[in-house]
Amino acid sequence: MSKIGIFFGTDTGSTRLVAKKIYSLLGEELADKPKNINRTTITELLKYDALILGTPSYGVGDLPGLAVGCMEANWQEFVPYLDDVDLKGKRVALFGLGNQERYASRFASSLIQLYRVFYGYGATIIGSWSTEGYQFKVISEEYFTHLG
Ligand SMILES: Cc1cc2nc3c(=O)[nH]c(=O)nc-3n(C[C@H](O)[C@H](O)[C@H](O)COP(=O)(O)O)c2cc1C
Repeated sequence: MSKIGIFFGTDTGSTRLVAKKIYSLLGEELADKPKNINRTTITELLKYDALILGTPSYGVGDLPGLAVGCMEANWQEFVPYLDDVDLKGKRVALFGLGNQERYASRFASSLIQLYRVFYGYGATIIGSWSTEGYQFKVISEEYFTHLG
């Protein structure tokens, strides 16, 4: 069985820390060490049939990246490399970080963009997480209508 690839974007390090926690929970037999998406090639990502991808949230419903004020390249700079790629058969689980108090109206809003990109290129998105206990405002139900 091939291992799970863990990739993350980060600006201040928190998403890296969470990626590392996920890696230690899974263990080295199941997963490879997490890699920052700004030091990753598309070939490296496509080696894996099972992926765990993490993103912080910056900007209003954008993917994090230089255009929304991040200090380093992030998902926004990586995503164009997916342009000709068919992700059919890839299973992708996503995790997102955000600040529910300060950014309640756009809490973890980059996560849906990452979802859209990978779903759009044919990946199967797996897993779910309860929103119970989180305080935020859903600004657009339309985001969720296609999730089934
Ligand atoms: C300028 C700025 C904008 C942010 N925008 C959002 C946002 O829109 N939604 C959200 O949930 N969190 C937002 N956050 C919080 C970050 O997503 C959160 O702190 C995250 O843990 C940072 O992850 P990182 O350390 O991996 O970059 C913002 C933080 C900053 C500093």
